[in-house]
Amino acid sequence: MQEAIFDEVEGTFVGIDLGTSNSVVSYFKNSNFEQVKFKGKSIIPSVLYFESKNKIIYGDRALKKGVVHPEFMLKEFKRDLGSSKKYTFNFSDQKNQESTNGFTYIIDTNIFIEEPDILDSFDSSTLVKIPLKVIDELQFRKSQPETDTAASYALENIEKNMINSHIETCESYDDLLSQDLDVDKNSNNDNKILSVAKHFTINMTTHATVLLTNDAGLRLKADSEHVTAQKLEQFKHDLAHKEVHAKSDSLVITPKEATRILLKHIREESEKYIGEEVLKAVITVPANFNPTQIGQIKEAGERAGFEEIAIQKEPVAVGYAYALEEQDKKILVYDFGGGTFDASLLQVTDGTIEVLAIDGDPNLGGADVTKIVSEQIIYEEFVDAHDTDMFDQHDSGLSMLDFFKNQQAISVAAEQAKIELSHYESTEISIANLMNSEGEIVNLQFTLERTRFEDEISDIRKKSLDVVKTLIANSGIKKEDINEIVMAGGTSLIPSIRNSLEDTLGIAPKKSIDTSVVISQGAVLEAMRHWSESDTVQEKIIYNDNALQDFGIGIKDNRFDLLIAADSELPIRETREYTTEKDNQESLSIEIFQRKKGYLSAVKTFDNGVEYIDKIEISGLPQSNVGDLTINVTFELTKDDALQIAVEVLDRNNNICNGNTLNVARASDA
Ligand SMILES: Nc1ncnc2c1ncn2[C@@H]1O[C@H](COP(=O)(O)OP(=O)(O)OP(=O)(O)O)[C@@H](O)[C@H]1O
Ligand SMILES: [Mg+2]
Repeated sequence: MQEAIFDEVEGTFVGIDLGTSNSVVSYFKNSNFEQVKFKGKSIIPSVLYFESKNKIIYGDRALKKGVVHPEFMLKEFKRDLGSSKKYTFNFSDQKNQESTNGFTYIIDTNIFIEEPDILDSFDSSTLVKIPLKVIDELQFRKSQPETDTAASYALENIEKNMINSHIETCESYDDLLSQDLDVDKNSNNDNKILSVAKHFTINMTTHATVLLTNDAGLRLKADSEHVTAQKLEQFKHDLAHKEVHAKSDSLVITPKEATRILLKHIREESEKYIGEEVLKAVITVPANFNPTQIGQIKEAGERAGFEEIAIQKEPVAVGYAYALEEQDKKILVYDFGGGTFDASLLQVTDGTIEVLAIDGDPNLGGADVTKIVSEQIIYEEFVDAHDTDMFDQHDSGLSMLDFFKNQQAISVAAEQAKIELSHYESTEISIANLMNSEGEIVNLQFTLERTRFEDEISDIRKKSLDVVKTLIANSGIKKEDINEIVMAGGTSLIPSIRNSLEDTLGIAPKKSIDTSVVISQGAVLEAMRHWSESDTVQEKIIYNDNALQDFGIGIKDNRFDLLIAADSELPIRETREYTTEKDNQESLSIEIFQRKKGYLSAVKTFDNGVEYIDKIEISGLPQSNVGDLTINVTFELTKDDALQIAVEVLDRNNNICNGNTLNVARASDA
């Protein structure tokens, strides 16, 4: 469409729409926008599969492999950028390990209460058995005030670790104990736990079995049953002296590292497809991404081998596709993707794009729609047909692994059904090889009508419409002044979502734009603006780089102290002075927040549009009286919306404090 304008543009830059579910890469060649093909398709699922520590599989193939081995698949990691989340993959081959002499640990409830994340201490050559009785007891302890926090944390940790094949829950073995300890006659929980330990002591000849319990009485009973028992303290001592294997054959990665791995693959495939080196890229991010998340994407891109990376907000990318065509319009960009929902208002005036307001929900997306189909529809049908409760592993009667596999198969079917219902009034759900509570393999088949699906997702629809209403209200623009709705993202293809938006605003969404490529094409235009020699591009699109939100730090009395105001022209640098609160204060932490445009309250709560983004920890402050130190905090917001923060500490004579003792660390860099 832009032949005349962009004829002179050449170069090897790409625009990457790095999505939660799917990524799309566009470039400009022979006067046209084109997409890089990944195994023949212009979309690559943002999914990784770890076959081993060094062998990674990408995209569609990763998704397929993940159906059988979900424990090695990583998806939707974009949602976790900026958080402290880490993913663990365990590669050791269980069969090989069993022939080596290792340990089997049976863990008692009191150990979980004292050390809720005890499971993280075991490597894959150590087998860990958790008696179901212990899970029951933890459920009970969850309701007791002194143990509720530890018990619920322990249960979460157990669930998280169940994907590791060396850790499993098990029944008690009622016949195993000597007469006076009989499990049936004596309902004492200890005996059930002891029976498990006894079972493995007898049957697991390649491993030494150890019952881990802090209960002295139980250790005595164990002794009389010839079961080795150990208390936590002793176990920790052994661990410290490497007598229990430390974690070894596993891979622990962060969301940022996962992003780097995917971007490196994208760069290499783009080079192969285009046939030229690709060293520059514009990567798009949701309008709501905070500076920490943006910084992490930039860094991941640089480490993936790109020499230059620029960041663009997704709605702005959509706006670019319009800026070339439209004269004077107010456009609502409604982008409902896999993991995030963004709504933005743009003003396009003769090639100039201004972002009037943004809003959205970083935790609302197609993944939530799929979850509803899984849980509210398919789980219900499964209970009716096969009497197996998929809401709770324990109630389902399934092993953790079978439970997890059922969940995966159901989720794949739910995703497919959801997409089919965008095109048809009803769909057949047909899932083979599910496990029921009796341990039998069963199939599940039924017809799902679009009307039932739409009823179930009414809350999601309402949530997204509420965001649009708030956005319009806070922007100061009248609903009637909006000229156009542009939809992007896979979830916006759901008919009732389109219709309800149309009803609310009284305008039909624009159809001419391909929702799946529009963002990456906008990113190519931004790349041209950055790196193209062509004057026409520079003249044709002008984007007002203004801060989209307020940025500041948290101060006393739960208040927000503003450093950079929304609408400030970027780049911008602001410094503010602070001081210590007490004598001889050794450390302090500075919490960084952003605040949505339009929310003026200085009280720092989420309801007031204020959201935490990062933290700076300063330690090793020199001895001084209250108020003597000056702490200069400088915020620098780049055109990419990356926030750089510098801290300088001055003593009472205004000398800069010695950097040797002073330690300044940013939480998101940890
Ligand atoms: N026809 C359809 N009907 C309903 N949902 C769909 C359809 N096609 C795709 N989806 C859903 O859209 C989501 C993916 O959309 P998209 O590729 O736009 O997201 P993304 O860009 O990866 O995510 P985000 O923008 O949130 O980071 C998935 O949840 C997918 O199931
Ligand atoms: Mg998207």
